[in-house]
Amino acid sequence: MSAAHLRLGVNIDHVATVRNARGGGVPDPVRAAQMAIAAGADGITAHLREDRRHIVDADIVRLKEVITKPLNFEMASTAQMLDMALQVRPHAACLVPEKRTERTTEGGLDVIGGFSYLAPFTDGLRRAGIRVSLFVEPSLEALDAALALKAPVVELHTGSWCHAVASGDQTLADQEFERLRRAAEHAARLGLECHAGHGLDFVTARQIARLPQIVELNIGHFLIGEAIFVGLTSAIQHMRAAMDEGRAQMMS
Ligand code: PXP
Repeated sequence: MSAAHLRLGVNIDHVATVRNARGGGVPDPVRAAQMAIAAGADGITAHLREDRRHIVDADIVRLKEVITKPLNFEMASTAQMLDMALQVRPHAACLVPEKRTERTTEGGLDVIGGFSYLAPFTDGLRRAGIRVSLFVEPSLEALDAALALKAPVVELHTGSWCHAVASGDQTLADQEFERLRRAAEHAARLGLECHAGHGLDFVTARQIARLPQIVELNIGHFLIGEAIFVGLTSAIQHMRAAMDEGRAQMMS
């Protein structure tokens, strides 16, 4: 499974983080989503956390009503989030691990240890016609478990690789990239659609775009930060160009 066009999903959580710093309605994450789509985003991602630290329930409802591209609803595997997904019916739901004390989603789902816990959530979403994606570490065993859970999509957690790149440890960065490369290949062998995300910037997005099995990147924090300096439209257009450059040098 490979695609010449690498889709860009823009995560607008941190527009809501800024809004919530003051309460009230600005900046509006739904406006950011519309702008992101106009600038070339292929979809919008939003994570409704249990503590509602950024996106709130009303944002998800409005996003589904207003945006003209697919909504990827990131959610923890809880009864409350499943109810929300079944009510809103996003195009896709990405199951992620969630800890109250973490600043961001620190690792992939424990798809092996948590298999029987996760199964009713993947089943419930699938039965409702929502495309299920599992956010996993780039390990072959995690992908095998995702297949056994009948998830059609996996999203590879790129956080360890991005940290290694940022630290300047080239050996570690190469090792982490190799894990991603092997995982992407394995996902394709299993017939799983492969996405990737977490911590990506222009440089890492350009590099990972070279992996032909990866068909979608979900990017948030860096883009919203960059938008402070150059505006959201320009940040997204620049990201689109970086991804296209990487794709043009696709690895065989
Ligand atoms: N994909 C998933 C599943 C995530 O949980 C996140 C963070 O919310 C992202 C992608 C985007 O990560 P970042 O904000 O670091 O670009």
